[in-house]
Amino acid sequence: MSRRLRVAALISGRGSNMAALIEAARAPDFPAEIALVLSNRRDAAGLETARRAGVATEIVESRGFPDRQAFEAAVEARLAAHAVELICLAGFMRVLSAPFAERWRGRALNIHPSLLPELRGLDTHARALAAGMKEHGCTVHFVEPELDAGPIVAQARVPVLPGDTPESLAARVLVEEHKLYPRALAKVAATLVGG
Ligand code: GRF
Repeated sequence: MSRRLRVAALISGRGSNMAALIEAARAPDFPAEIALVLSNRRDAAGLETARRAGVATEIVESRGFPDRQAFEAAVEARLAAHAVELICLAGFMRVLSAPFAERWRGRALNIHPSLLPELRGLDTHARALAAGMKEHGCTVHFVEPELDAGPIVAQARVPVLPGDTPESLAARVLVEEHKLYPRALAKVAATLVGG
């Protein structure tokens, strides 16, 4: 088997997508390993999940730095220390600068809870309901300087059902996110390690 790509999951909160990636990467033939979980919030619940799974964790809080450039330099220093080759944004709530996105072009993925290019930004489930959409879903895409843009790797669709609330719709999408992100990472990692 080819070597496994070293991946960092970047989180800010719950970390359920991160957990799905860690779980999938347990399979011996998965082309990536989650070598690091990095959070910009000390209180991110996902940190404890990662520790329990035996994954290295780092915390880089933006308030400790004078500006975004210094914060991102600190993030990249931690990524380098763990020899990270690809990053997976997984509920990471900091907007990354254009130079950061350029440096990681082709080596950074994000999961977004909508069928991009529909519904970029926040509150996608409420907005899908307000717009009367019949179908909703999630997208894994490469990160580009523009927010929630970049080449799409994979998408999953769910129906919007009568009586849906933002919460019920979010839960239906989340089930798909947890299947989609590992699948998309496997596809990209296999390409990068030449598998
Ligand atoms: C997910 O809905 C993801 O699509 C979005 O932020 C949420 C993160 O949830 N980018 P979790 O922290 O992975 O549980």
